[in-house]
Amino acid sequence: MDWLVVNFFPVHRYISSPVHRFTCLPDTQTNLTKYLNMRKKIVAGNWKMNKSFAEAEELITEIADALDEIELTNTEVVLCPPALYIEMATDVAFESNFKVGAQNIYPEDAGAFTGEISPLMLKELNVGYCIIGHSERRKYFNETNEFLARKVDALLKHDMCPIFCCGEVLPEREANQHFSVVTSQVVEGLFHLPVEAFRNVVIAYEPVWAIGTGVTATKEQAQEMHAFIRGLIAGKYDEQTASDTTILYGGSCNDKNAAELFAQPDVDGGLIGGASLKSEEFLKIITSL
Ligand code: 13P
Repeated sequence: MDWLVVNFFPVHRYISSPVHRFTCLPDTQTNLTKYLNMRKKIVAGNWKMNKSFAEAEELITEIADALDEIELTNTEVVLCPPALYIEMATDVAFESNFKVGAQNIYPEDAGAFTGEISPLMLKELNVGYCIIGHSERRKYFNETNEFLARKVDALLKHDMCPIFCCGEVLPEREANQHFSVVTSQVVEGLFHLPVEAFRNVVIAYEPVWAIGTGVTATKEQAQEMHAFIRGLIAGKYDEQTASDTTILYGGSCNDKNAAELFAQPDVDGGLIGGASLKSEEFLKIITSL
């Protein structure tokens, strides 16, 4: 009955931290999370390359004001604006109920890498998360799994959580290759990590054919892939780590379909593109979690 005792342990200290796993907790705490199925739920907004500074400020303020009125239990809201707006966003986040994420980093602390942003710079601004391996970066910037693995390491080194994206393109799904594609992405991008480091990673399954198309994966397709990814994690690490890993769905997720996607047992929230650019719609998505 040791789990009764640990009810007095200040769980919130760990849950509210961006690096949110329970790696530093005593065994009793791990038992508690097992009993309560405490894996964190996340709704993250990927703004991509959108909004003027004034528009970004307005949107962030609207979301922050609304979040003040919402009780979020074991749920984190993460806003990932363009890099130039991160400092403004973290200023607002300081007094509000959301975290700030970046959309990209370069995997070195400093150096002659013109135009790039280092994890140290983000860390200094209190950034908690960073999207890694988005299909747009894989496609337009030729980012390979090997390079993404370095980005993952660079973030973890500075206590920030990678939101690691994976997902197949349409011809791959049509050829029934979606499981093998996602397996390669996850294995090559993440499975070099020791378990303690892996437990700080969030995964986002984003089928490329669903991104920005208005064609969402069905709840069955999302659940099937999320359960599959969780199985990969259990195979590589252990059941508890698999059960504790937050796996988000992304791809035309909106205020109409979020609730049924999030109701799936292995879908722990969403990585939202277009629908995160309007406060009302984004807030509806958050409250459907
Ligand atoms: P949409 O929600 O616009 O389809 O974009 C999803 C996405 O790419 C989030 O990273």
